[in-house]
Amino acid sequence: MAIVGVLALQGSFNEHIAALRRLGVKGVEIRKPEQLRNVTSLIIPGGESTTMAKLAESYNLFPALREFVKMGRPVWGTCAGLILLSNNAVGQKSGGQGLIGGLNCTVHRNLFGSQLQSFEAELLVPEIASSEGGPETFCGVFIRAPAILEVGKEVQVLADYPAPSNGLLEENVEEERRVIVAVRQGNILATAFHPELTADTRWHSYFLKMADDTGEEALSSPVAIPVDISCVQQPRNDLPIYR
Ligand SMILES: *[C@@H]1O[C@H](CO)[C@@H](O)[C@H](O)[C@H]1NC(C)=O
Repeated sequence: MAIVGVLALQGSFNEHIAALRRLGVKGVEIRKPEQLRNVTSLIIPGGESTTMAKLAESYNLFPALREFVKMGRPVWGTCAGLILLSNNAVGQKSGGQGLIGGLNCTVHRNLFGSQLQSFEAELLVPEIASSEGGPETFCGVFIRAPAILEVGKEVQVLADYPAPSNGLLEENVEEERRVIVAVRQGNILATAFHPELTADTRWHSYFLKMADDTGEEALSSPVAIPVDISCVQQPRNDLPIYR
């Protein structure tokens, strides 16, 4: 059975482990560099990205994490995890934060708002639907979310969304700008939203297939969970604040 590491410094790591469990896969908590040797793929959860980076620094995790990405091991960052995997982050608090890097993109740390601006939105996810089945849309849960502004040629865009008109982007107002909220670049998967907070496990099963592709043991046919999730486009205030 595949064993997936989940960076467990802070944030929504328990929710990722629970989502993996629903697919019959064991997720193990990673807090120390040497623990990365025991896993062949890694999820970096949402949380507070500056706090997570500080903790990663104090546990001396950055060199091992960068090495893990460079070795071509599958790594998936959600929300704060996306920020940490990006080569370039803007909209930083003064002083910035350490990044793992590897994903050739520019991310805006808090494009969807720095206050309690959390929302759900139907996203078109053709690549996920063709790989994992189910509806063409996915209910993205965004919690003080980042967004990708630019990607390199080698980066595949898996979902985008209209940019918020909150003045954080200086834009020509005549044309609607879209920002990127899910990408894949080889062994790296990144989502600005939180699939681990929904019952739809298709992003997790997609990630597990990436792990298979890079030579990990085959998954024992994951059980497809019926997808019946309505996505109400309204702010939700019942969620913990992850970022
Ligand atoms: C990132 O993408 C740009 C644009 O496609 C490209 O010019 C650049 O070489 C890439 N950088 C890296 C580090 O791969």
